[in-house]
Amino acid sequence: MQFTTALLASAAAMTASALPQSTPIADGTPFGVITIRSGSQVQNSALQAANSGVLVNAKSQNASCDAETNSATFYIKDEELHLLESKSSARPQKIFVDRSWFGQGIIGYVTGAQPIGTRSETKGWALVNGELKFQDTGLQVCPGSVDGAWSVWLQGVDKPGWNENCTSVSNLAVKADKPIGCWYS
Ligand SMILES: *[C@@H]1O[C@H](CO)[C@@H](O)[C@H](O)[C@H]1NC(C)=O
Ligand SMILES: *[C@@H]1O[C@H](CO)[C@@H](O)[C@H](O)[C@H]1NC(C)=O
Repeated sequence: MQFTTALLASAAAMTASALPQSTPIADGTPFGVITIRSGSQVQNSALQAANSGVLVNAKSQNASCDAETNSATFYIKDEELHLLESKSSARPQKIFVDRSWFGQGIIGYVTGAQPIGTRSETKGWALVNGELKFQDTGLQVCPGSVDGAWSVWLQGVDKPGWNENCTSVSNLAVKADKPIGCWYS
């Protein structure tokens, strides 16, 4: 499991059975996200971004960041989920989902003016009682991704992308006290 210090501090202060009343995170405020699935390998794992996808438990997300971190920092603006960009990069990166039969709930990101697929959507993200959701749908994670990581998908398909042994997780957005911008691979 990989954490930033800030996320670790927040996670340590939390137990799965008694989630804190998380302070609402306003639009535009940077946050990290941890997955919650008690007793599993994905309990308190921070969301990461790499290779145009969203992961947990990768040894390194191989991003170029303004400071040392191995987790992704996001913010929501107008229902769109953005990756907080590095100060040295003027190329915004934005998350999309594809809920069609083809996408099966895939979550990815595009950079700058790179177009999203015709079946992909970007608008619909919200923090619902502190949980990151897309149009009220939460997340699931699947083992067997690159470098021991688990890939992150929207819930709804049992074997998204024909991945096996996927498990639904809840998640908690944690406000980033010292947000770190990155350029994600
Ligand atoms: C899924 O679980 C089965 C049964 O435990 C196991 O044989 C298989 O290797 C697992 N696949 C992945 C990708 O973890
Ligand atoms: C990060 O880079 C290392 C070394 O090139 C590679 O082995 C690993 O798979 C990469 N991790 C991800 C999440 O792409």
